[in-house]
Amino acid sequence: MDVLDALDSRFSCRAFRPDAVPERVVRDILRAASRAPSGGNLQPWHVHALTGEPLARLVEAVRERMAEMPRGEPGEYRVYPPDLKEPYAWRRFKAGEDLYATIGVAREDKAARGRQFRRNFELFGAPVGLFVYLDRTMGPPQWADCGMFLQSVMLAARAHGLHSCAQEAWAQWHSLVGGHLSPPPEHMLFCAIALGHMDAAAPVNRLRTERAAVDDFTRFSGFGEADRG
Ligand SMILES: Cc1cc2nc3c(=O)[nH]c(=O)nc-3n(C[C@H](O)[C@H](O)[C@H](O)COP(=O)(O)O)c2cc1C
Repeated sequence: MDVLDALDSRFSCRAFRPDAVPERVVRDILRAASRAPSGGNLQPWHVHALTGEPLARLVEAVRERMAEMPRGEPGEYRVYPPDLKEPYAWRRFKAGEDLYATIGVAREDKAARGRQFRRNFELFGAPVGLFVYLDRTMGPPQWADCGMFLQSVMLAARAHGLHSCAQEAWAQWHSLVGGHLSPPPEHMLFCAIALGHMDAAAPVNRLRTERAAVDDFTRFSGFGEADRG
């Protein structure tokens, strides 16, 4: 698959078919993604790849704990800045509204929104969960490196006909996840990636989020009039 097709066809898939993904494929994806660049070639990412029983046990454990702690554990990092400013606040709001619109959930229907959010902790039905950790000593540049690794995983997944969804939501269960995966104490959970075959019939998978135009986030200088695309 051409890299532009992979970029174009990747989206956050939120309903998967249960079909298994063989370890060989997961390894191929991770090997390809490990070519992602990182400052000083630190390669600061650490991955736990789960499927089958271990994943089912983790999903079940979160389901049980959610009954007592609906908001999860206190986070180890802030997902968004405290007062998200514009235009970011609007984009976040719009992505949420558009997501709930695909499944016909109204803004005021908090119960249905909660149900959809909790699907995060079933990995939206994906057969594989990749849990991505960073060493706690790492700073913003290495978190950015890790982001490149995540995108590389998600693009490599497309080359195998698979879809994915990055999931920061899992960070709200970092201790519980840690209890199942036993990472070294210096590792901190950034997010998970749900990986598998898309359920093409699921309405939630119709969502294609909007993007700002190139001219909204780029200032061009020194290019000739003639080569403008
Ligand atoms: C690091 C990261 C964490 C994310 N966490 C979640 C999550 O916990 N749950 C979820 O449904 N989507 C999550 N997303 C998906 C974003 O909402 C999504 O990428 C964004 O709305 C753009 O849509 P698209 O991926 O379909 O292009 C995450 C994306 C990234 C990159």
